[in-house]
Amino acid sequence: MGLETKSNKRNKEHCQLTKDKETNPNPLTNTTATISANSSPRKSRRRNRRLSMTPVQRLFETCKGVFSSGGPGIVPSPENIEKLQAVLDDFKPGDVGLAPNMPYFRSTVGRQTPAITYLHLYECDQFSIGIFCLPPSGVLPLHNHPGMTVFSKLLFGTLHKKSYDWVADAPCASAIMNSEGKHPDVQLAKMKVDSDFTAPCDTSILYPSDGGNLHCFTAVTQCALLDVLGPPYSTPDGRHCMYYYDFPYTHFSVDGLSVPEEERERYAWLQEREKPEDLAVVGALYRGPQIVDK
Ligand SMILES: [Fe+2]
Repeated sequence: MGLETKSNKRNKEHCQLTKDKETNPNPLTNTTATISANSSPRKSRRRNRRLSMTPVQRLFETCKGVFSSGGPGIVPSPENIEKLQAVLDDFKPGDVGLAPNMPYFRSTVGRQTPAITYLHLYECDQFSIGIFCLPPSGVLPLHNHPGMTVFSKLLFGTLHKKSYDWVADAPCASAIMNSEGKHPDVQLAKMKVDSDFTAPCDTSILYPSDGGNLHCFTAVTQCALLDVLGPPYSTPDGRHCMYYYDFPYTHFSVDGLSVPEEERERYAWLQEREKPEDLAVVGALYRGPQIVDK
């Protein structure tokens, strides 16, 4: 999930990394001491520049390489996934100027569901970077990521995550029946995760059709969640954020489908819904180290 912002067309033409950057498997190992005598001064300057980058700039440069040939439904190569995951695994709250005592993480007085703040760092057609700031009990309701690969790094706090993937070859709507004998507009999904995560923890990744593409987050404590989406949501392209109710497997009966009793808890029926009325995601200006898009 993310705020659907206008793509920054200005940045599109800059989303190509040089071949050197794309093929370098581990920029962190390139210290001045390891540069061979044959290295050109230009290459040395490039390496030194990379070493002196802020973590957020390194994240941006890595995203440019990883998503340069991306698009809806296109998953980056395993090498690129590993590269971006490694950059995010090292990320600390201070790298984006955040700390749990900041106002973003305080519960809103008078609101039952606390408002969530979204800090927008960057967006182009290929990817977006943003941070969700959740006060305790803040909820990002069950939503999808159509055609996307999403990297999520919990910067601090404890967050409960529940996620699902659609079941392939799920029963058609006419075979599903509720207690009144009607056919509800629901689709079968299999649960991927239903657990608490406490920072520091590894970056989690979801894919267009697995890894828990549909998910819901509930903040157990105040949390900061850094999200990289590739590609971002795009309403004009029909890839907007959709919200869902989830119902237990036993809520409906199905002709011709048998799931062993002990596995039923791992399945749920999802039904599309309007954006929840009590969901308040408020955009705020990101004030941490800036991304420079040259
Ligand atoms: Fe999400």
